[in-house]
Amino acid sequence: MRCAKCGATAVIGMRQHRLNLCAEHFVAWVPDMVARTIDKYAMFAPNERILVAVSGGKDSLALWDILIRQGYETEGVYINLGIDHEGYSDASEDKVRAFAEEHGSVPFRVVNVGEVYGKTVPDLAHTRRGKRVCSVCGLVKRHIMNRVASEGGYAAIATGHNLDDEAATLLGNTLHWQSAYLLRQAPVLPETHPRLARKVKPLCHLYERETAAYALLRGIDYVEEECPYAVKAKSIVYKGLLNQLEHRSPGTKLQFYLEYLHAREDGLFRQEEPAPIENTCPQCGQPTMATGLCAFCRLWEKTP
Ligand code: AMP
Ligand code: FES
Ligand code: ZN
Ligand code: ZN
Repeated sequence: MRCAKCGATAVIGMRQHRLNLCAEHFVAWVPDMVARTIDKYAMFAPNERILVAVSGGKDSLALWDILIRQGYETEGVYINLGIDHEGYSDASEDKVRAFAEEHGSVPFRVVNVGEVYGKTVPDLAHTRRGKRVCSVCGLVKRHIMNRVASEGGYAAIATGHNLDDEAATLLGNTLHWQSAYLLRQAPVLPETHPRLARKVKPLCHLYERETAAYALLRGIDYVEEECPYAVKAKSIVYKGLLNQLEHRSPGTKLQFYLEYLHAREDGLFRQEEPAPIENTCPQCGQPTMATGLCAFCRLWEKTP
């Protein structure tokens, strides 16, 4: 297998692009692909400040690495959820901290949910019957990312979702015909309120094996363990099924996602004007659709 650019031995083949590359050309190709994605979906302009949500995993650290290499002004935010299983949250925080230090002390902050709000995410979920840790976790992460972005005046929040993540979510939403979720699944979620920053996914055209190879070749030390609560998650099953299809027919995952985006753009999923967000949570000040407390603040109110 030879590199398409220089003829040296290739380290990776991307069958969906019919492209084999050596280490040097692959490490240059990935940021180019990300730059094209940022451009294609008009995610942000070169002078905009970006808040990068970093979990300590390969995807978000690779994303941060790429944006730093491309000269963007970024800050990393790590949300320590207090997941204790084999020190998962603290070990992830250490990886993010080490990355920030190695990259010339790029701006980086940690929000420790237990210290700031008095309860960790697992504590909070266990006291709320019927609430799964992952759904509490998602709500808490969204709230904190919005708060940090709004306080810091960031134009956008960038997350490390890759194509495998997006295709698995798409498959799950399609199997259950979750039309509201389908409508909202996009590489860019525009700001719906002056205090709710735009959300962007610059890695959405890259396969997970490519972000992993990039992290490896760039010497990025990342957390390999999955979140202990995600191990049985359905998305892992969906990813496995999509990989079986991909194996038989290279490019299936990419096509599934891109053709969905085209269909969405063509209006296959009727776009209704989202209702304007008119309320403000009296406790935390964030915009909310609810009258009274926002979903985040209600979560803590009801907890004994
Ligand atoms: P996940 O939902 O764990 O697949 O993560 C998707 C993306 O959300 C990651 O690539 C990160 O950008 C972001 N993210 C997940 N967990 C955290 C965290 N604890 N702190 C900051 N960002 C996170
Ligand atoms: Fe939130 Fe696992 S990362 S429950
Ligand atoms: Zn080469
Ligand atoms: Zn609130």
